[in-house]
Amino acid sequence: MPNRVIAVDGPAASGKSTVARKLAAQLNYRYVDSGALYRVIAWKTLENSRDTAQPAEVLETLRTMRVEFFEAEGAVRYRVDGYEPRAEIRTERVSGAVSSVAAIPEVRAAVTQWLRDMVRFGNLVMEGRDIGTVVFPGADQKFYLDASPEERARRRHAELKPTGEAADVGRVMSSLQTRDQKDSGRSTAPLCIAADAQVVDTTGLTIDQVVAVIAQRAGG
Ligand code: CDP
Repeated sequence: MPNRVIAVDGPAASGKSTVARKLAAQLNYRYVDSGALYRVIAWKTLENSRDTAQPAEVLETLRTMRVEFFEAEGAVRYRVDGYEPRAEIRTERVSGAVSSVAAIPEVRAAVTQWLRDMVRFGNLVMEGRDIGTVVFPGADQKFYLDASPEERARRRHAELKPTGEAADVGRVMSSLQTRDQKDSGRSTAPLCIAADAQVVDTTGLTIDQVVAVIAQRAGG
């Protein structure tokens, strides 16, 4: 039987990452954070002192970076040129650059192929923006998580606080909105709800409540 894929899509800070990670642990599936791959390309381009707003400079970085995938702690993870970036890809600088990187069609084609190849690791819970629409249109289950802009800003602000990167909630909200607009407005694989996705509004729900709703619907 081919490996199963559960797609969890939604806008920034909708709770996808935490929910997808917990769901994967509960079902004993591998967790995949697809956004991390777009972030890593943005990060590596900045590391090379190249301009993320120039597609040719991003594509040159993509061509010269060596990416390997491995499994650890229930997730599919990766190294770039032998190094696994973690906190460096979550900075506001990378968040500010990632949407233009993710809008480049050749970048999307490369990442989409990497993501499809990950089924070799086993059953997957994959989170992102276009998993149920483009990467795995035939996914066994598709969920689309959303929450009010205020709640999403509050969550991201709380996440950034320990890193010392937290601006005020208003600034966090406007940076999320800018990214959402870019992600929804781009011509290749924009953020949208798959026709057969189950939409879950997570506003006012705890992570465990959302996981319980999804796990029940996913048959776990
Ligand atoms: O965690 P957060 O919701 O802030 O974002 P992320 O999942 O790390 O994704 C970062 C960025 O990558 C998004 O703003 C999109 O521009 C892009 N992305 C995408 O285009 N397609 C995906 N499947 C996942 C992320």
